[in-house]
Amino acid sequence: MDEKELEEIKKKAIEDIENVDNIKTLEKIEKELFAKEGELGRIFASLALLNPSERAIIGVKANALKKELNEIILNRRAMLQSRMTEKQTEFLDITLPGAKLNNIGHIHPLTQTIKRVSEIFYGMGFEIFDGPEIENEWYAFDALNIPRDHPTRDSWDTLFLEDKTLLRPHTSPGQIRYMENHQPPLRIILPGRCFRRDSIDASHEINFYQIEGLMVDQDISVANFKAIIEEFFRKFFADSEKDKEKLNCKIRLRPSYFPFTEPSFEVDLWCVHCAGRGCSACKGSGWMEIMGAGMVHPNVLANAGVNSSMWQGFAFGMGLERLAMIKYKINDIRLFYDGGREFLEQF
Ligand code: FA5
Repeated sequence: MDEKELEEIKKKAIEDIENVDNIKTLEKIEKELFAKEGELGRIFASLALLNPSERAIIGVKANALKKELNEIILNRRAMLQSRMTEKQTEFLDITLPGAKLNNIGHIHPLTQTIKRVSEIFYGMGFEIFDGPEIENEWYAFDALNIPRDHPTRDSWDTLFLEDKTLLRPHTSPGQIRYMENHQPPLRIILPGRCFRRDSIDASHEINFYQIEGLMVDQDISVANFKAIIEEFFRKFFADSEKDKEKLNCKIRLRPSYFPFTEPSFEVDLWCVHCAGRGCSACKGSGWMEIMGAGMVHPNVLANAGVNSSMWQGFAFGMGLERLAMIKYKINDIRLFYDGGREFLEQF
C-alpha cells in the first residue's frame, strides 16, 4: 500500500461518482468504497501491516481521502435529487383532478333557507330589502301603530340599549323604512335577525330570524296575499318544479290581532308531510301555524308618507326557523344555534 495506490483509488472513485446518473447506483458505489471489504476498507485494514512511520503517513492520507470522497458523494446526491424534482415538475399533469378536500365547510341551513326564500320571492317580482338590527322606538313601535301605552308593547319592548334604542323584536320596522323612501306600487321582502326576551325552548330562541313581506298597490286584496303565499309554499316545499304541481299547499287564515294590520290573521299551512291527515310534525291537527299577516293599517301607510286613500296592501311576517323546521322535519330550534356538527353536516 502506498500513496500512488491511494491516488489511483481516488481518481477512479471520482470518475465513477461523476459518471453516475441516479441515486441508486451512487449508493451502490458508496457502499463498495466504504464497506470493510471495499477499496477504502481494505486500505484501513492493511494499515496494521505497515511499520509505524508508514502507517502514520498513509493513515492520515487515507482518512483525508475518505472525507473528501464522502463530500463528493454528498454533493452528487444533492445534485441528482434536485434534478429528479425538476423532472417531476416537468411531468406534472395539471389537467388531472385535484386531491379531494375533506372537512370543507358549507352554508348553514338557515342561510340556505334565506337564500331559497329570497330566490322564490325575487322570481315573483319582490325586491330584497334590509333594515337595521338596532331600531329606535319610532320605527319599532309608534310608526307601526303601537303607541307608548299600547298593551302589545309589553311583549316586544324588551332588549333596550343605553341610548334608548333597542334590538328589534320583529322585522316590521323595515316596512316603514322602505316606504319612507319608495312610493307604491311596491313589493319587498326583508329577511333579518330579531331578538326577544322569550324563554328558550324547542320552538323559541332569543335570537331568531323573520322574513317580512310587504306588497302595496292600487287594488290589492287578501285574495292576492293568499295566491302569492300559496305559490311561495308550493315552490319552497317542493323538491322540483315537477313535484311542485303535485304539492297541495293549502293555507287557512284565522282571525288575529296586530296593531299594524287590519284585518289581521294567523296563517296555517296544510301539513305538507301528511297532507292534512295528522302526523307528529303537525301534532295531529293537519295544520301548521306559520306566520302572522294582514292588510296594512292606514295609519302605518300614513306614518310612512303613503296616501292610504290611493294605495293599500298586505304584509306578513314568518319565522325562518319555523319554515326550515317544517321543511326538514327538525323538532328543536336550538339545533340551529348550538353548532353541533352531526346536525349541520346533514345539510
Ligand atoms: C310578528 O312578529 C309580526 N311582526 C308579524 C307580522 C308582520 C304580522 C306583518 C302582520 C304583518 P309574531 O310575534 O307572531 O308576529 O312573530 C312572527 C313569527 O316569528 C312567528 O310565527 C314565529 O314563527 C316567529 N317567532 C316569534 N318569536 C319567536 C321566537 N322567540 N323564536 C323563534 N321564532 C319566533
